[in-house]
Amino acid sequence: MSSIKRIGILTSGGDCAGLNAVISAVVKAATKKGWEVYGIHNGTDGITEKPHSFEVLTVHNFSDSPWPRLSGSYLGSLNKGVKMESLEEMTRKFAVGVKELGLDAIVVVGGDGSMNIVSNYCKGTLAKVVGIPKTIDNDTPITEFSVGFHSAVQVCTSAIDSLELTARSHSRALIMEVMGRDAGHLAMHSAIAGAADVCLVPEIPYTIDGVINKLKEIKASGRNHAVIVVSEGIKTEAGEHLSNKKNLVGEAVYGGISQYLCNEISSRYNAFQVRTTTLGHVQRSGVPVAFDRLLASLYGAEAIEVLARGEDNKMVIWKGGKIDAVDLSEVVKSGTTLLNPKSEYVKAAKELGMYIGEI
Ligand code: F6P
Repeated sequence: MSSIKRIGILTSGGDCAGLNAVISAVVKAATKKGWEVYGIHNGTDGITEKPHSFEVLTVHNFSDSPWPRLSGSYLGSLNKGVKMESLEEMTRKFAVGVKELGLDAIVVVGGDGSMNIVSNYCKGTLAKVVGIPKTIDNDTPITEFSVGFHSAVQVCTSAIDSLELTARSHSRALIMEVMGRDAGHLAMHSAIAGAADVCLVPEIPYTIDGVINKLKEIKASGRNHAVIVVSEGIKTEAGEHLSNKKNLVGEAVYGGISQYLCNEISSRYNAFQVRTTTLGHVQRSGVPVAFDRLLASLYGAEAIEVLARGEDNKMVIWKGGKIDAVDLSEVVKSGTTLLNPKSEYVKAAKELGMYIGEI
C-alpha cells in the first residue's frame, strides 16, 4: 500500500488531443484519495530548472473550465529543440527538484521514450513512476491505443473528405502527407476511414507504377479524381529516405515525400493533374474525440490505482478492450510498434481495392 501524499503530473514530447482530459482524470482520481497534485510545467523542465515551475491542481481547475475538452497541453510539454545535458546531470537535477517539491510519485503522460527517461531520472529519488501513453503515431508498444491517436485519425479523415471534393472539381489526384514517423498507423486508419484510393506506409514497399496503375484503373472506371494518402516516413522507390535528419533526442525528422511522389507520378502519367497537401501539426490538435477522452479517463483513473497499490515503474495500457498496467522495462524492451502488414487493417484496405504497395 502507498504512503503517497503528493504527486506530480507532467506531459512530455509532442502534444496531441486528449492530454488535458488525462490531466483532469488524474487530478480527480488523486484528489479522491486525498493526495495533493502538482502540475509540472513544460515536461521535466519544471522539475529540473530553478525556480521550479509548477502549480497546485485541484478539481476546480478542470471542472470549472473548458480545458478537459480542449487539445494542447494545459501544462506545456518538453521542448526537444533545446540541447540536453548529460543523463547524470539531469538525474541529479531531477532528484534535487523532486525532493524540493516533496513529490512521492510522478505521472508521466508521454511516449515510451519520455517514460524511459523519467523512469531513469527517478532512480536517483524515492519517487514512484507511472506512465500514460499518448502519441498520434500510436507506436507505443504493448498498448493497442495511445491517447491522441484517434483524434489525429479524425483530423486526417476530415482532410481526406475535403480533398476529395476539390479533387472532384478539378479532375485531380491529390496526395495527402500525414505524420506518424516510422509507423503507418495514422495513414492506414485514416485512409480506410476516408476511403482513399492509395495508402503508402513505411512498413510496405511500393512502386510508382503500382500507384499509376491504380490511377489508370480509376480513370478507366469513369471517375475523374483520386486521393492518395502517404505516410511521412515512407522511402523513395529506390528505398531511401529523402533526408536523414534527426532531432536532438535521435528521432528521425521527416517531411516532403509527397512532393517526390507528385514529381514521379506526373513525369510518367499525365491523365490527372497531381497536387500535394502536407497536413503538418494540425494533426496534433483539433477536438479530442470521444474515444480519446474515454481512454484518457480510464488511463488516469488506473494510473492512480497503480500508485495506490504501491506499484512503481508501470505504464497503463489498453488491450483487448481492457485496462491494465505493465512494467515500463517491458515497454522499453519492446521498441516501437509498427503497422503489421498482416493486420486486419491492411487486409481490409487491400480487399477494398486500395493500392497499399507490393503486398
Ligand atoms: O511523434 C509525434 C510527431 O507528431 C510525429 O508524427 C512527427 O514526425 C513529429 O512528432 C513532429 O515533430 P515536431 O513537432 O518536432 O515537428
